[in-house]
Amino acid sequence: MSTTAVPPAKTTKPEAAAAFARGLEGVIAGESAICSVEQGKLIYRGYEIHDLAANATFEQVAFLLLEGHRPSDAELQRFKAEVVAERPLHPAVTAFIESAGGWLASGRAVPMDVLRTAVSILGHLDPDAQDNSVPANLRKSKRLLAKIPTIIGHMQNVIDGKAIIGREHGGDPALDHAANLLFLMTGAKPTREYARVIDVSLILYAEHDFNASTFTSRCIAGTLSDMHGAVCGGIAALKGSLHGGANEMAMEMLKEIMRDVGEKAIGTKAVDDWMQRAFDTKRKLMGFGHRVYKNGDHRAPILHKLGRGIAATDSKNPGGHPALKWFELGEQVQKIMLDKKNIHPNVDFPCGLTYYTMGIPVPQYTPIFVASRITGWCAHICEQHANNRLIRPLSLYTGPTETKWNG
Ligand code: SDX
Repeated sequence: MSTTAVPPAKTTKPEAAAAFARGLEGVIAGESAICSVEQGKLIYRGYEIHDLAANATFEQVAFLLLEGHRPSDAELQRFKAEVVAERPLHPAVTAFIESAGGWLASGRAVPMDVLRTAVSILGHLDPDAQDNSVPANLRKSKRLLAKIPTIIGHMQNVIDGKAIIGREHGGDPALDHAANLLFLMTGAKPTREYARVIDVSLILYAEHDFNASTFTSRCIAGTLSDMHGAVCGGIAALKGSLHGGANEMAMEMLKEIMRDVGEKAIGTKAVDDWMQRAFDTKRKLMGFGHRVYKNGDHRAPILHKLGRGIAATDSKNPGGHPALKWFELGEQVQKIMLDKKNIHPNVDFPCGLTYYTMGIPVPQYTPIFVASRITGWCAHICEQHANNRLIRPLSLYTGPTETKWNG
């Protein structure tokens, strides 16, 4: 008589279907001490997002997420020095980025694809690659945090047909993380205001509990695979237009509306009619809606206000129209979405408008999301490795039951 427990047979019974949540909606899939995402508030390790956005820097938030506490001044200086020292890329990674120029120009690869491959090469070069211990994972987290902006900057230089900026030092060691990211892309040091806005955007994007890309990274880490592999999975997941890719698609949608209706039609019925046509065709409007936030994304108004602030004084006329006109169009679209569909913008909508005002190329919006979310991903990978249980849910089988192979 077998004494081993016989696992419950898979069932197709209706009660199983009732328990099944498509897309794991509303399912608590694990415990975490890193972040809480609720309609009431968004907190990173106990600190509320409005407090962090107003009073912290991205480096401080990165330390908070990775180390678990607010850094002392001495800890912060040490952390910043370690990250600055790790900014430069190994020549093999830079050579790959330079070789990807043709794929980027032809559209065979987009920046998110090249970033994913470059991170995979970083894994081959990292002395701690196969070590999932706490100290090794922390060292790898800082290296990834440091090097991803350099990959983004070098990639933009290649796209622009320019010489690599900061090849030796990974940018300007005197610049903070967010400012250096802009410097690496353009060769120009950003104004204090631009540096602050990009810094806050990185704080807002840093972490968001079990979102699709973070959960992907945790599933990979849960098999005891390595951090670089888990981050590559996170990058692949974030690229999708239903997730991080929405910040690029939201700006492309606004450019489409502006092309279709023209600047003078902003505020008129022409925009309402454009939106109605989108509703009639069941089009998903990028930058709107959220699986958890059904009454608004805490992060969106923070970034919208900052972005609109620089748009008000901007004179670059991104896309041939005054930056403020883009925000007015965005605000009209937001109003229509709220009035007609009761759907709020998520953080990706103001991000698109803000980065466009700053002259950041649209295909770099989601890579910049990676430059921030690497902190959340690495914190979750470390948490998963430190107290692991393989993540393996069940499926509700809907295929044919036993069919005889030989009839
Ligand atoms: C991010 O999870 C996170 O935390 C992610 C993130 C993070 O920080 O990690 O916050 C970052 O990814 C933000 C989301 C970015 N994605 C987009 O902006 C893409 C557009 N949004 C939608 O695809 C949608 O809102 C989702 C995917 C974000 C959420 O979808 P859900 O929870 O599965 O909701 P749903 O698609 O079932 O929508 C419910 C209804 C549907 O209507 P019906 O089909 O039932 O009639 O609302 C409609 C949807 O059609 N709807 C939309 C819409 N979002 C929802 N209709 C038009 N446009 C939209 N954007």
